[in-house]
Amino acid sequence: MIKTYLEVAVDIAREAGKVLREEMERPLDIAYKGDFDLVTQADRRSEQVIVGRLQKRFPEHAIAAEEGTGKDTGSDFRWHVDPLDGTTNFAHGYPCFCVSMALAHRNELLLGVIYNPIYQELFAAARGEGATFNGKKIHCSKIDSLKNSLLCTGFPNHKRQSHPNIHYYWDFTLRSHGVRRDGSAALDLAYVAMGRFEGFWEFGLNPWDTAAGVVLVEEAGGRITDLQGQPYILGGPSILASNGLVHAEMLKVAAAVAEQSFTRK
Ligand code: IPD
Ligand code: CA
Ligand code: CA
Repeated sequence: MIKTYLEVAVDIAREAGKVLREEMERPLDIAYKGDFDLVTQADRRSEQVIVGRLQKRFPEHAIAAEEGTGKDTGSDFRWHVDPLDGTTNFAHGYPCFCVSMALAHRNELLLGVIYNPIYQELFAAARGEGATFNGKKIHCSKIDSLKNSLLCTGFPNHKRQSHPNIHYYWDFTLRSHGVRRDGSAALDLAYVAMGRFEGFWEFGLNPWDTAAGVVLVEEAGGRITDLQGQPYILGGPSILASNGLVHAEMLKVAAAVAEQSFTRK
């Protein structure tokens, strides 16, 4: 059954991606959820396609979608949907954004699909079945030291001035090949799964940002915890994803930065 769910999710993600491509060609229609938190017609139209199709196919399943059109049916099956991850990039015509969908049964994530419609890159994974990129099996990278790693992080759309992540950014930048800040947490996680990045961390992400990426990284042989090394809980305060080989080193750096930030206050 899980394979059927995955096939349906892939199909829907491609259709939503088509909507995002169409919307790229049209004049922008931006609204603000907060000072810097954008929402566009593309977010809404993509969500309409995804929620509409999921409800038709699996009417009993619950859907948690970012723009709020999903429904909690009380089912043990729950879809986590980000109809457009990377809205700020989209709004600036920077082609780094995607559709992200995951299915959970109670607390277990069963599958994840992430699709960048501009590069037509499709990442998919089902629990126990491995992870794929455009249909081919993928694995996390084999690099085993932080100093040879390329990392990635993101910053929240709110409270930027006081956010502690800038201290982590500084430290990790000095200790690695560099830290990218691409603006799509779902793609960041997909890139850890396929070995483009060795590690990714961020604070304050929502379940729809990370659910699909978590399945991808784990199925590609990587590791996911929070920044303290505790099990990651969807929607928890922080996430650390890595190829597994640099995880301990990243946790050590994170602990040192947390300690220094605490002393700095
Ligand atoms: C955002 C992106 C970004 C991350 C932000 C998220 P959105 O999602 O994933 O990379 O840094 O924290 O809110 O708003 O573009 O769906
Ligand atoms: Ca998002
Ligand atoms: Ca979004």
